[in-house]
Amino acid sequence: MYSSETVIGLGTPSVKNKPIEQLVWPEEGLHAIPDWVYTSDDVYAREVERIFQGPTWNFVALEAEIPNSGDYKRSYVGPTPVVVSRAEDGSIHVFENRCAHRGAEFCRHTRGNNTEFVCPYHQWSYDLKGNLQGIPFKRGVNKLGGMPRDFRNEDHGLKKLAVTTRNGVIFASFTHDMEPIEDYLTPEILKDFDAVFNGKKLRILGFYKNELPCNWKMYHENLKDPYHATLLHSFLVVFGLLVAGNRSAMVADSKRGIHGTMASAKSDSLYAAVDADKKKEMRSFHEGMVLKDERFLEYVKEFDSEWSVTMQTIWPNLIVQREMNTLGIRHIVPNGPNSMIMLWTMFGYEDDTEETTRHRLRQGNLMGPSGFLGLEDNEAMKFVQEGVRRSVTDRSVLKLDSENIGTADSLISEAAIRAMYKHYREVMGF
Ligand SMILES: [Fe+2]
Repeated sequence: MYSSETVIGLGTPSVKNKPIEQLVWPEEGLHAIPDWVYTSDDVYAREVERIFQGPTWNFVALEAEIPNSGDYKRSYVGPTPVVVSRAEDGSIHVFENRCAHRGAEFCRHTRGNNTEFVCPYHQWSYDLKGNLQGIPFKRGVNKLGGMPRDFRNEDHGLKKLAVTTRNGVIFASFTHDMEPIEDYLTPEILKDFDAVFNGKKLRILGFYKNELPCNWKMYHENLKDPYHATLLHSFLVVFGLLVAGNRSAMVADSKRGIHGTMASAKSDSLYAAVDADKKKEMRSFHEGMVLKDERFLEYVKEFDSEWSVTMQTIWPNLIVQREMNTLGIRHIVPNGPNSMIMLWTMFGYEDDTEETTRHRLRQGNLMGPSGFLGLEDNEAMKFVQEGVRRSVTDRSVLKLDSENIGTADSLISEAAIRAMYKHYREVMGF
């Protein structure tokens, strides 16, 4: 016996992979999403060019990951490998992880500290700001060979990106005349961003990395989709973190509609009281489950915010997670139309007590690749990718709260997803 995955795995080419000239957005407008946005190689290539390499600020690192001069981190802008480096003068630089000579991805370590970058292939060396400093045998040997007389090192440095920071978070862009990060994020999004990144120094607690067999946009959609939260996530409902009827919000930025904040305030009691009529709508509710360690769900109020949970989607590649006292960022690295890599960094603050750190780590089990909540999203998005790739039907329905595009007053809404696709269609020319 074979499972369906064995017969037609996700490694097989998508059946919905037409040339881009043949792709037309459905007549339903923002009330439908065509499957080809998730499956087309051409669409993916255009996204990389117009979104990730276009006028966007992309997350690359937390400053706490590279606190000292000479510290570096290997990172990504979209699928493009970059290096984030702190120079001798404390300044932060981001450049392509591609030797200017023959194109080798020269930086091979995830993190480290060094005084220069040396390509392993022909030992071209670069300073911490990405400038070419040395070429072996530049003048040849015995007056034979070598570079031409007019070769100037200044013309052959690494490709540099624009860099900006906001309270310890580093963003980079291939566009050098980007608007300030504060304007890019907008005041509505900054409010909750700054509740987490409030200027206190961060302490890195650990990392996760996983591949999701789904299109990168599905991760944004998942966190702009408050509808699924109480339906998919038993844990949220059973333990009162989010029950239909709790105070909550789904905010989209009003400038472009691409960033979002999904926010909620947990029930006061540990175990939720769920009305009989709501139970009928929530098949994931299970009666009588108890936690062995109730410390797991303690919420210590420490943020300048009315919410116990805020999940922020920052276009195009960052999720900021504040799930009660567990803090983390998720860095989306697209990996072709049918796959994405998720890089997680969990953190607290430098002045946390050991007890607070233990609490953050314990509560961190909610999230991560196999977290009590994260697990179910990973599976659901895999199911969607499988569905859209291999079916005859060619679009999905996006009609909840149908007249609304952007911030929603209700959790039973897809208005924030529509706002994202409104912008997406403009940028992509669909
Ligand atoms: Fe979810």
